[in-house]
Amino acid sequence: MARARGQEKYVICNADEGEPGTFKDRLILEGDPHKLIEGMILAGYAVGAHKGYVYIRGEYVLSIARMERAIAQAREYGLLGEDILESGYSFDLEVRPGAGAYVCGEETSLIESLEGKRGWPRLRPPYPVTHGLWGKPTVVNNVETLANVPEIVLRGADWFRTLGTSSCPGTKVFMLLGHVQFPGLVEVEMGTPLRTLVYELGGGPPDGARLKGVLVGGAAGAFLAPEDLDVRLDFDSMQEMAAALGSGAILVFDQSTCMVDMLGSVLRFFRHESCGQCTPCRVGTDALVRLLDAVRSGSGDEGILELMMEITETMNLASLCPLGQSVALPMGTALSRFREEFQRHLAGTDCPRCRQPEGALT
Ligand SMILES: Cc1cc2nc3c(=O)[nH]c(=O)nc-3n(C[C@H](O)[C@H](O)[C@H](O)COP(=O)(O)O)c2cc1C
Ligand code: SF4
Repeated sequence: MARARGQEKYVICNADEGEPGTFKDRLILEGDPHKLIEGMILAGYAVGAHKGYVYIRGEYVLSIARMERAIAQAREYGLLGEDILESGYSFDLEVRPGAGAYVCGEETSLIESLEGKRGWPRLRPPYPVTHGLWGKPTVVNNVETLANVPEIVLRGADWFRTLGTSSCPGTKVFMLLGHVQFPGLVEVEMGTPLRTLVYELGGGPPDGARLKGVLVGGAAGAFLAPEDLDVRLDFDSMQEMAAALGSGAILVFDQSTCMVDMLGSVLRFFRHESCGQCTPCRVGTDALVRLLDAVRSGSGDEGILELMMEITETMNLASLCPLGQSVALPMGTALSRFREEFQRHLAGTDCPRCRQPEGALT
């Protein structure tokens, strides 16, 4: 980005935070907005930008109010605006609320939305780093990323590298959710085992219930089984087991959970949030929901599962943006790790754990 040509460049903070079960950015926006402002000024200085936008999820009313107040305070202190602290460098910030679409968290739709257009993802390349907001070089980063910057500049990269793993330094914020005794937000070093989060920090499932699995990374994440709990939570280790850290949401579920239900919630979410611009995702997400309903009602055979995987692979190959591609991870991991449960539904065995699909669209 620093090398991108052009006088006009932009820094965007992605505070859309639309991933289900994810609220880490909200707590930074509300609890320490000045850290984010400082991170954005430093990012702007590093890349040669003079203007930044904080794109905040519209429902985050308090975050928006706190961020706007913090920006006004920073201006009063001469930390934003023209000639910051007589350094010769100028940078200013503006808050823009989102309108509630999950896809607007994707960086190119976010840029479209900031430009006042419908939040549809752009075809890439070109990438925002050369052709972003108003066609100018633009860097888009997450709240947590930018909030890390002041501490790294203050204490040095070597200090940061003492935390986490050699290839994934630093800390990571996770949301511990679902069937754990102590749900909430935790910040741990990169590379901390999943087991530590579920059992040491989360206290494991309440009332002595047995763990059934964990959805790591939000709706676009991977379903893991109890035997996977020793995986380390860093980008490389997750990639090695064909999973992803995603948004950092860790949804723990015990044996009372129906996997067909769980996957159904995920697929309905994607169907609802598909922007409809491209056919594989628009049609594919709907087909997957309908096929899963057939599995639930026991009408069909194993061929349905094969067809679902085929549709997912097509979506992965042909979707225009990562939303359509990300269905592959929850689909693939649910079917590979919990296949027997899908087979039992297909065989028509009564599932005491099944709920009626809530808000199912027909
Ligand atoms: C459907 C979709 C939704 C996304 N939502 C968010 C979001 O809410 N917040 C976010 O920071 N990144 C989100 N992203 C990722 C962004 O496109 C982008 O990669 C990210 O803001 C880069 O920040 P980082 O490199 O600092 O993590 C989303 C991506 C997709 C495909
Ligand atoms: S993959 Fe889905 S969300 Fe992305 S552009 Fe296509 S229809 Fe829209």
